[in-house]
Amino acid sequence: MQRLTFAYDDEQILEEINLTVQSGELLGLLGPNGSGKSTLLECCNRLLGPDSGRVTIDGDPIATLAPDERARRVGYVPQSESGAFPASVFETILQGRRPHGGWSPSASDREAVERVIDRLGLDGLATRNVENLSGGQRQKVRLGRALVGDPSVLLLDEPTSALDLKHRLEVMDLVVGQLQGDVAGMIAIHDLNLAARYCDRVALLAEGEVHAVGPPDVLTAEAIREVYGVEASVRRHRDRRLVVPEAPADTGPSAAEPPIEGHVADRPTPNTAETDD
Ligand SMILES: Nc1ncnc2c1ncn2[C@@H]1O[C@H](COP(=O)(O)OP(=O)(O)OP(=O)(O)O)[C@@H](O)[C@H]1O
Ligand SMILES: [Mg+2]
Repeated sequence: MQRLTFAYDDEQILEEINLTVQSGELLGLLGPNGSGKSTLLECCNRLLGPDSGRVTIDGDPIATLAPDERARRVGYVPQSESGAFPASVFETILQGRRPHGGWSPSASDREAVERVIDRLGLDGLATRNVENLSGGQRQKVRLGRALVGDPSVLLLDEPTSALDLKHRLEVMDLVVGQLQGDVAGMIAIHDLNLAARYCDRVALLAEGEVHAVGPPDVLTAEAIREVYGVEASVRRHRDRRLVVPEAPADTGPSAAEPPIEGHVADRPTPNTAETDD
């Protein structure tokens, strides 16, 4: 995207954002609540029309693509979704094939859905109504609907926020597996450690601008303080960055001390408590 600018009424949300994602690459969109991550993804998907600037896929301006062509090329997982029409897991994921073949699904469409259901571990839930799933299961269904269309661009808005530890890792492995080859991915994500582990590059958004972009090494304690207002220790763990948030940055330097240690030091030790003098 080039010089992408977007405002809601008078509120400027994105200002001249320039970001590129290569095929096979996963770009993490990081930044505080309200920093514009979802807005950016919606502009990339043409759910929102930017005020200026443009988004291209393989050189084609997305604004000029017909809706079905756009839906074929872009797989999108929204941050949230209200289930307007109750449908089964199978039917919901099948919707992701619609841009490929119209309203009557072929045998290969159904096979593609079955494969995605299998990869997401949703086998036992295929006929269940999506409204009767847990939050994490629903999130997987939304991802399945995006993956089943074999798009060349994946736009994922916090697709792992409701998932437990194991499913987070499984889903991120799946996403990265899907990118192998010629798929470009952009993921809005709050878990900095998950981002550092899986994203090739990250972009830190703040106040409508890209504060930093690059490999996960851009996640420094200073950048985290500036963007999130949080004191954090940043360490290396098995060649990955590990971010340990300590305390809000504006509560003074003493707040950055490990809270548990500080707490324990204030209490009498068991020995003291038992001494009878
Ligand atoms: N429909 C809307 N009308 C007016 N303002 C909106 C609308 N949708 C979002 N905003 C505002 O735009 C800003 C960016 O919102 P956005 O949803 O892109 O943030 P985000 O980075 O995705 O946040 P989060 O991490 O909470 O998902 C926020 O200030 C939000 O209040
Ligand atoms: Mg959002």
